[in-house]
Amino acid sequence: MSSNQNQQGWGLIGPGRFAREFAEELREAERARLVAVASRKKERADSFAAEFGFERAYGSYEELFADDDIDIVYIVVPHVFHREISEMAIDAGKAVVCEKPLTPGLAETDALLQKAGEKNVFLMEAMKTGFLPAIRKAVEWIESGRIGDPVLLRADFCFRGSVDPADRLMNPDLGGGAVLDVGIYPVYLAQLLFGKPREVAAVGALAETGVEESAAIVMQHDGGVSSSLTCSFRTEESMDAVIQGTEGEIRIPTFHAAKDVELWRNGKRAEAFSDPVGAMVGPEIEAVMDALAAGLTECPGHDHRATRDLAGTMDEICRRMVSEEIFQRVRGGR
Ligand SMILES: NC(=O)c1ccc[n+]([C@@H]2O[C@H](COP(=O)([O-])OP(=O)(O)OC[C@H]3O[C@@H](n4cnc5c(N)ncnc54)[C@H](OP(=O)(O)O)[C@@H]3O)[C@@H](O)[C@H]2O)c1
Repeated sequence: MSSNQNQQGWGLIGPGRFAREFAEELREAERARLVAVASRKKERADSFAAEFGFERAYGSYEELFADDDIDIVYIVVPHVFHREISEMAIDAGKAVVCEKPLTPGLAETDALLQKAGEKNVFLMEAMKTGFLPAIRKAVEWIESGRIGDPVLLRADFCFRGSVDPADRLMNPDLGGGAVLDVGIYPVYLAQLLFGKPREVAAVGALAETGVEESAAIVMQHDGGVSSSLTCSFRTEESMDAVIQGTEGEIRIPTFHAAKDVELWRNGKRAEAFSDPVGAMVGPEIEAVMDALAAGLTECPGHDHRATRDLAGTMDEICRRMVSEEIFQRVRGGR
């Protein structure tokens, strides 16, 4: 346990691309003590720790798990390593916050959730979006009937990613494919707002490596709401969401990291909300520390059921697009 009663000690595994954005906001969290960073390369951990103000750096993940000052391990490595590293952290008795997707498939996700349950250890998939004030505002508008009955959701996460077959985005052995990496966000938003779909249809274009590089997904939810979602590694950036109802619509630019949200009625902007802080992972970080302070083993804002539902829907989507061999390879079945 961290020295100051209110503080919670964080250890970060995998000082790569997204780790930088997370650490930038972690260091702003008052209750967070930045204890250590671990990398397979000690020099990488050293420079990251120095840049973001972590107290120490380790050249192996095992050393970080053995550090008694660390309460929470944040894992930010390619998807295919999530389960093994999370299990090591759970065995060491650490609370675990692991990047999305928790694992590349439902079977592995179930196994990992079960392990955390058996050990009575906190485990959470780091799905930042639902914690953002702009998204909470959209939920509030929908629940209070501001757009009438919701009818349609359109949401996209498209950008120009690496086409290098060895890159984790394209490589089946590193959990490649647009659905797991970015399609997860529109699917998550649809399920957050309207629940796990009753029906899923999906088509997509495959990369040379056999993983999907673009996908168009249609889902039907209970209550008559339909979702139309896209994701791609091959296009200009397009990351907005629109929720249309019988009496208005909600527009969320760059919804996965939403800062602004607008309510439109009768063709006019009726209300707008801008997050005064504008953080991306800050609210998620606070929610993790709130849950731990309350002695919980799941985060109420993104619990195990939500993680499981997400993994199950993504399995269904990918099954409609990629070959059985690629489906299994991406999910660790070599
Ligand atoms: N929440 C979000 O908004 C968000 C945004 C982007 C990405 N992500 C998620 O974050 C995770 C990491 O993505 P990233 O783009 O940051 O990854 P990355 O920069 O490619 O790699 C991060 C770290 O993973 C380890 N690693 C990379 N390639 C490896 C390999 N082939 N074998 C073993 N270890 C390897 C390295 O750790 P060492 O330093 O130990 O070598 C590296 O520093 C993904 O699961 C992704 O879905 C989340």
